[in-house]
Amino acid sequence: MKKYLVIGNPIKHSLSPRIHNYWIKKYNLKDSVYEKIKVEEEDLEGIVSQVRNDKLAGVNITLPYKKKIIPLLDGLDEYATQSQSVNTLLKVDQNMVFGLNTDTLGFNSSFSEKPEIQYAGKDVFIIGAGGVTSSIMFSFVLAANKIYITNRTRKKAEQLKDNYPNSVAKKIEIISWGENPKVCDLVINTTSVGLKNNEHLGIDFKVYKDSKNVLFYDLIYNPNETNFLRDARLRGNKTKNGKMMFLKQALASFEKWTGINPQVDEEVIKLLDK
Ligand code: ATR
Repeated sequence: MKKYLVIGNPIKHSLSPRIHNYWIKKYNLKDSVYEKIKVEEEDLEGIVSQVRNDKLAGVNITLPYKKKIIPLLDGLDEYATQSQSVNTLLKVDQNMVFGLNTDTLGFNSSFSEKPEIQYAGKDVFIIGAGGVTSSIMFSFVLAANKIYITNRTRKKAEQLKDNYPNSVAKKIEIISWGENPKVCDLVINTTSVGLKNNEHLGIDFKVYKDSKNVLFYDLIYNPNETNFLRDARLRGNKTKNGKMMFLKQALASFEKWTGINPQVDEEVIKLLDK
């Protein structure tokens, strides 16, 4: 039996099993199953050992362990190294468990244009400074005109900025939690706020009421309309949820584990709407 897992806390919202089990069935991978489990931080080491001992064939990592898992691993791929964030575990050698990052790829391919075109000259406002933030920032940090970051724990936003060379860091500005830059083109929620129904970020985005072209992008895909997106829609701003990013990162993980490049067809997209 080949067992795959997604681990995190909370984990109830995760639709990864639905997608991966759909592909497992579609591509006739006998004796394979994908499950979700809620784990505590002290369980991470055991999970990595299970990958090393072939008890687990592959693992997805979600909030809040994308960074915390790193010291337990034997190596990282290029995106995981750059972002210091891991969402996929893969056994690469007899005893080596590597951390991969397919979030960056997922985020890039969630837009119809390449990041360097999509973000050219744009002002981007990022809410949050967790593992996924550093993954997606690689997509636009060079192309964007200006990047604003706000995080409940300001220090984490500062650390994120400090990871960049001066030439890049000078276009990154930290904004106090609860405040907004006066103008921007894209507001991205990378926090976990909204996973539970009725959670509010507590940031007032009314300042963008007359800027109908501002795109509010929530990386959360379940629920498919968070309060962050609902409020934006009611204000008349553009909105986008994390569905495509989620599917594309899942696809990349599945391919790394099985060698099969699955299709993102209408049916798999529909699975997320149920
Ligand atoms: P990971 O590394 O797996 O991405 P994380 O570092 O815990 O997980 O990231 C979660 C993000 O959601 C962080 O930006 C976190 O803010 P803090 O750095 O202040 O913890 C944010 N977050 C989680 N709960 C929040 C809340 N109730 N209000 C505001 N931000 C929250």
